[in-house]
Amino acid sequence: MNILIVGSGGREHALAWKIAQSPLVDTVWSAPGSLAMDRIGPCFDVKADDVENLEKLALQLEPDLIVIGPEAPLAAGLADILRARGFDVFGPDREPAQLEASKGFAKDIMARLGVPTAAYGRFTEPEDAKAFLRTLDAPYVLKADGLAAGKGVVIAPTLAEAEAEAEAMLGGKFGEAGAELVIEEFMPGEEASVFVLTDGVNRLTLPACQDHKRLLDGDEGPNTGGMGAYCPAPVMTEALLKQVDEEISEPMIEGLREAGHPYQGVLYIGLMITPEGPKVVEFNVRFGDPECQVLMASLEDDIVPALLACATGGMPQRDFTALMPKLSEARPAATVVLATNGYPGAYEKGSVITGVKTADEIEGVTVFHAGTGVNEAGDWTAQGGRVLSVTAVGDDLKQAIDRAYAGVDAIDWPQGVHRRDIGWRALGKSE
Ligand code: AMP
Ligand code: GLY
Repeated sequence: MNILIVGSGGREHALAWKIAQSPLVDTVWSAPGSLAMDRIGPCFDVKADDVENLEKLALQLEPDLIVIGPEAPLAAGLADILRARGFDVFGPDREPAQLEASKGFAKDIMARLGVPTAAYGRFTEPEDAKAFLRTLDAPYVLKADGLAAGKGVVIAPTLAEAEAEAEAMLGGKFGEAGAELVIEEFMPGEEASVFVLTDGVNRLTLPACQDHKRLLDGDEGPNTGGMGAYCPAPVMTEALLKQVDEEISEPMIEGLREAGHPYQGVLYIGLMITPEGPKVVEFNVRFGDPECQVLMASLEDDIVPALLACATGGMPQRDFTALMPKLSEARPAATVVLATNGYPGAYEKGSVITGVKTADEIEGVTVFHAGTGVNEAGDWTAQGGRVLSVTAVGDDLKQAIDRAYAGVDAIDWPQGVHRRDIGWRALGKSE
């Protein structure tokens, strides 16, 4: 079979790499893909949010499965359009994709279905927002309702700062995405990400991951799209995973189906493990980046039957192991993101990166590319904020992390920055 992947980041490179290993697959096409993805299969110069031309490309290529990586085309209805054309699509329709595109929408559904999450209010008027803030305790969590590239959440330590932030956000700080404001109760605890594959009825939970959202070691500095991740995350015990399945995954997937919007794809559950149990921080409607890189490296099973089952229906009822028998043996995996100095703010493009091949040749290591080009001399160059995701598997998490850092250390890129402490919480737990 032939599979078309939509997207161009580290997540999509990892998906292409894993999908290409399937004995079921002849060709992996990507749109727009990247230079790194082009080494796996042909790339087509159509942007991931160019819904009209992606539809044309699909009609021309007639792929057996289309895997949509990022959230923007899902929120814009690409999956609906392709399904209406008869394609099998991995990724939810526009309506359920609002779980990510509108935080207020997600909160309302969780409230209706009784899914555990922080208490909240939705506001368009600064005065109402401020009145609600005064009913909460510090710190205060303020979120732009719409898609803001992971930057729309502010945690304000004092009431005065929270009130000023509410004014700024409703005053246009995040543009359209901030026309509505969601204010939440602060949830203390450790975070984890759980990824559930579903055909709208049945579900299969992948090994739990932990992302590192802050730029600097010790979880300091600004929030980013993610500077590293690992799996399985020991914070998610069997008992907690079962609780998440029963209290979150099942009611969400059932609730969406009953509302006439069956969810087909991967539901990303961002969790806070609070003293009262796991609660939802956010939903995303796609794989995490860089969590996808560790999951694809970790899973020994062929992912393609599972992706296909989500797209076509027909996941065996509750029988997770029928699709991925080695799921419970998922190998420990870790990834370290190399970003251009300046990210998540302004940064320069074009700096030369050497040693990627050496890193790739280390046992257990795979380097996924998120934003690279090639110069005239044939060297890789940095073309984005997050640029490489150095990923490794190991017999245990420590070995996976050590190998990932051996990969990082083989790479010479003076303009690059990365964290040195990926996995610190898990390593602390195992000591
Ligand atoms: P989000 O984009 O909703 O995932 O929020 C970004 C980050 O803000 C999360 O990863 C959490 O670290 C933090 N956060 C969001 N909501 C809350 C909350 N209600 N309580 C505590 N931390 C939160
Ligand atoms: N790594 C966080 C995300 O993909 O949203």
